[in-house]
Amino acid sequence: MLQQTRTSPNNHVWNGLEIISRGANRLCVRDPDDPAYCLKYELPTSQRSQVSLRQRLRRGLAQRFPNFGENRTELRAYRRLQARLHNGLDGVVATCHGLIATPQGEALRCGCVLLQDGTPARSLYRHLFGDRAYPADMLCEAVDRFEAWLLRHGVPLFDLNAGNFVVVPQGDGVALVCIDSKSLLIGKEILPFSRWSRLLMRRKIARRCERLRQRIRAALAGDATLAGPRPPH
Ligand SMILES: Nc1ncnc2c1ncn2[C@@H]1O[C@H](COP(=O)(O)OP(=O)(O)OP(=O)(O)O)[C@@H](O)[C@H]1O
Ligand SMILES: [Mg+2]
Repeated sequence: MLQQTRTSPNNHVWNGLEIISRGANRLCVRDPDDPAYCLKYELPTSQRSQVSLRQRLRRGLAQRFPNFGENRTELRAYRRLQARLHNGLDGVVATCHGLIATPQGEALRCGCVLLQDGTPARSLYRHLFGDRAYPADMLCEAVDRFEAWLLRHGVPLFDLNAGNFVVVPQGDGVALVCIDSKSLLIGKEILPFSRWSRLLMRRKIARRCERLRQRIRAALAGDATLAGPRPPH
């Protein structure tokens, strides 16, 4: 886990590493050895946002048992999915390559989703609350395609928050690439019925995708209430 934080005044550099973005639990930076990769560092509890009781418990456990941490959870989730779908993940879920020791602490090394100019693709969240480069219909069509993929392959990915996707141009439109697959393994339910029953899983995917489309439309229409809570991405 990340032990110390030295962020530059413009918040783009952390301990000499170029920050791509941060989520509620992790900081994502470019890999200084190869810009085709990024490194994810787990944030200490004091620097996390939106920490629920369940997440606090998980964090407490992760301090004693590293397997409960976000990085190891995501790596396990990714490897399990890859073992099932192989290169069926290409262009849909960002690659996870393993845990590495760095001078700043342990990091999860992932393939960085890049735009044609070599810069990291921006999150859907940024497209809703920042740049707004694409119309709601185009982004919702990308959600439709992602939903069809989840249903076609029976993938129980439920944390469809806008910070867990980046947006890349594709043909005349855009595609969503999932950059955080840890919700394949951890969820909010005590009893995960939707992982045990295919019918419940399909219904839950449909509900979550519909909610994401509603949030996209609300955010781009300027309705902050309907757009849902803002993740810190
Ligand atoms: N492989 C990647 N390629 C490009 N950008 C990425 C990649 N992984 C993460 N990012 C950027 O970092 C941000 C946070 O990543 P991530 O969702 O993994 O963090 P997190 O703290 O686990 O999120 P959560 O808030 O869901 O717990 C993303 O919104 C995205 O902008
Ligand atoms: Mg995330």
